[in-house]
Amino acid sequence: MLIDWNDRLVLGDARIDQEHQDLVTFINRFFDALTNGAPRDEVCGAAFTLAEQVTQHFNSEVYLMEALHYGARAAHQREHKALMGELGGFLRRVGQEDDRELLKVAVFIKDWFTTHVTTADAQFVGFLQDEVSHEDASEERSLAEMC
Ligand SMILES: [Fe+2]
Ligand SMILES: [Fe+2]
Repeated sequence: MLIDWNDRLVLGDARIDQEHQDLVTFINRFFDALTNGAPRDEVCGAAFTLAEQVTQHFNSEVYLMEALHYGARAAHQREHKALMGELGGFLRRVGQEDDRELLKVAVFIKDWFTTHVTTADAQFVGFLQDEVSHEDASEERSLAEMC
């Protein structure tokens, strides 16, 4: 196991937290396949599944950011695109790389993930929570106006 799911990674949005927790599982599966001496096609499969899950997660975050006109979405998406660029190059090499190089990639993904979640994603979840509390406040106002 490369990453343990811990409180530092919990941001307070149930859906995003669940998706992040799932990504931790897929990062660990890739790392475990690599370090348990699994056949190379299993390691490749775990790498491709991880990349697919990352893509889906990024798409769901970006969808929310666009829908809510999140101001920092361009900078946030640049971070996502940088990782996808790295992953794209990595997936083209994964069949040929030696285990040491693959381990470096796994550590790189872990570091990228923990940094991104605790900075850019934390900022976005803070924004989401503000949006919800503003919505609640305006609902309360309109209920008060009706009375
Ligand atoms: Fe995220
Ligand atoms: Fe993100």
